[in-house]
This record gives sequence, C-alpha cells and structure tokens, in this order.
Amino acid sequence: MCSRNRFRPRAWASAVVWLACSTLLQAQSPELPTGPVQAKVRTACTECHDSHIIVQQRLSNKAWSREVDKMIKWGAVVDSVDRNAFIDYLSVSFPPDKAPEPGERAGPGKKK
Ligand code: HEC
Repeated sequence: MCSRNRFRPRAWASAVVWLACSTLLQAQSPELPTGPVQAKVRTACTECHDSHIIVQQRLSNKAWSREVDKMIKWGAVVDSVDRNAFIDYLSVSFPPDKAPEPGERAGPGKKK
C-alpha cells in the first residue's frame, strides 16, 4: 500500500555510502608533507604502493638513501639529479626521532 511513493531513498543512501568510502580511501593514503620534491616523490614513489608505507617509516639519512636506492633498483623512476633531494626530503620528513604515525602499533597501552 505504500507503492504509490516512487521517491527512491536507496539511491541517496548509495551516494552517501560512496562518499563515505571515498573519504576513507583517501585517509588510507596519507598526503606527503610539503617540501621541495613533494610532487616528484608522490609521482615516483606511489606508483607501486601508497604513501602510507613511506610516512610510517622513521629512518636515518643513511637508511633512507639505501631505501631510495633499493626502490630505484626495483624500478622507481628517480632522476639522478633528484636522488639526493629525495633522500634529504625523506630524512627530514621522517627521521628516527619523530613520533610514530597515529594508528601505528607503538606507544604505551596501544597494543594491537
Ligand atoms: C617499482 C615499484 C616501486 C616503486 C616505484 C617504489 N617502490 Fe617502495 N616498495 C616497492 C615494493 C614491492 C615494496 C615492498 C612492499 C611490501 O613489502 O609490501 C616497497 C616497499 C617500500 C618501503 C617499505 C620498506 C621496505 O623496504 O620494504 C618503503 C619505505 C618504500 N617502499 C619507499 C619508496 C620510496 C621512497 C619510493 C620512491 C623513491 C618507492 N618506494 C618507490 C616497490 C616500489
């Protein structure tokens, strides 16, 4: 007896779900911090994995340089003139003494 009403609330519901999901998906790939090579790093380094794997690292300059070289060996396209800038940018943005990313398994009382 309610069939007279042809308004489709379900279409609206799917739009809302879609919006919520795309927002969540964006949250899963965090924005890289601003810096001189931010855009280049985003292009070169999120081709195979998202930026989350990068922003959760806390590495020394030496370790970042090994990391970047490893990625280049694996196929990352980094101009040789940009290599040092990449390493500087990464080791300034994600040094060992920086607090861990929120949501990572670290810190007291945050097991799991
Ligand atoms: C050709 C594909 C590719 C590109 C491009 C790439 N990576 Fe990776 N990267 C990988 C793979 C594969 C892994 C291992 C993934 C895993 O363990 O899930 C990885 C893992 C990582 C890790 C986690 C630590 C590790 O060594 O496993 C970091 C940090 C990282 N990449 C940084 C970078 C940075 C910085 C760049 C840009 C210079 C980059 N990646 C570009 C393929 C790539």
